[in-house]
Amino acid sequence: MVSADTRVRDRPIHRVFPRLDVPWVRLGDWPTPVEAFGEGFLKRDDLSSPVYGGNKVRTLEVLFGEALAEGATHVYATGAFGTNHGAATLLHAPRVGLRPGLVLFPQPTSSAARANFEVLLGAEVGRRPEVMVLPHWSALPWGMARVRARHRRHGGRPFVMVPGGATPRGALGYVSAGFEVAEQIEAGVLPAPERIVLPVGSTCTTAGLLLGTQLCAALGFGWRRPPVIQAVRVTPWPVTAPGRIVSLAQAAGRELARQARAPEAALSRARLGSTLEVDGRWLGWGYGRETAAGKRAVDEFRAKAGFELDTTYSAKGAAAFLEAIRRPGGGPTLFWSTKSTAPLPEPARAALSAVNGRATRWLARADRSLP
Ligand SMILES: Cc1ncc(COP(=O)(O)O)c(C=O)c1O
Repeated sequence: MVSADTRVRDRPIHRVFPRLDVPWVRLGDWPTPVEAFGEGFLKRDDLSSPVYGGNKVRTLEVLFGEALAEGATHVYATGAFGTNHGAATLLHAPRVGLRPGLVLFPQPTSSAARANFEVLLGAEVGRRPEVMVLPHWSALPWGMARVRARHRRHGGRPFVMVPGGATPRGALGYVSAGFEVAEQIEAGVLPAPERIVLPVGSTCTTAGLLLGTQLCAALGFGWRRPPVIQAVRVTPWPVTAPGRIVSLAQAAGRELARQARAPEAALSRARLGSTLEVDGRWLGWGYGRETAAGKRAVDEFRAKAGFELDTTYSAKGAAAFLEAIRRPGGGPTLFWSTKSTAPLPEPARAALSAVNGRATRWLARADRSLP
């Protein structure tokens, strides 16, 4: 078993709050690059790790730290069949000595979701992960309780994460990401963005970035005025209600204030809400459903930036970004690229053929409907 260092203290958040003392592990390669794209800029969090990149690597650096500090042996991700949080958990957890597990529910088919689901079901990452396949998302609380009960009986210690890892601790990963951009602004890598565009699903990424950029502006670090955080819905209301996002950002601020002995980090709801724009125009028929604007964004990014977006998350965010940079007089705009572009490991075919009926039927449907 790997014994991981949970005392990582060299993230940008630690430079701003040197007394911050929460367990934190090393998973990603930071800072992620910033590139020009048309009139705007891209923050390439898709490159956050060659093992599996994307936004969830930042969240997991804190959540795996918390799990290890609690003495957990297993860490469970929960989410839809194509969950990136799940893929990141599966591929990164063994690196810090945690055994991954998954509690999954169905979603609309898409090629990125199919690719992830095959890896989740067929992975040969150390020992095979435990995968629970539920009939519907509403069975999730039952599935999470069952995982905990089973481990209690057998003496394992599970750390079961909520979808997206959306807790105040998890959000600290993206508070640090805000400081990382501020360092890049100070270093002249990009002008201070007036607008940051990103997809919002579980709200963890947006809430952390909202707090992080507000704190930067309050400290005069990178920004003098906080940027607008344009959160593009990929899951519907009420999951992505502005009030929920602000509540998580506020709770993250309180957690930071407590753990860093820095009361100034606890910002008010009014202040946090003042720079949040939740944009529901790109969601289409709902979570996981492809949209025409999203598909156009996929093509444009492939042609101009040379990398692939996914249709569930990043394509919808990118469609909003493309609109924003074409609006005259919009000011510097940054798109946060959140979907991993690291190559996925080959799923083990033998393991795939042993999965349960619900999963097999979904994969067969995906094979019929996708190229
Ligand atoms: C690729 C990608 N982008 C964006 C998001 C949204 O992030 P959050 O769930 O933190 O709102 C997710 C969530 O899983 C994701 O996988």
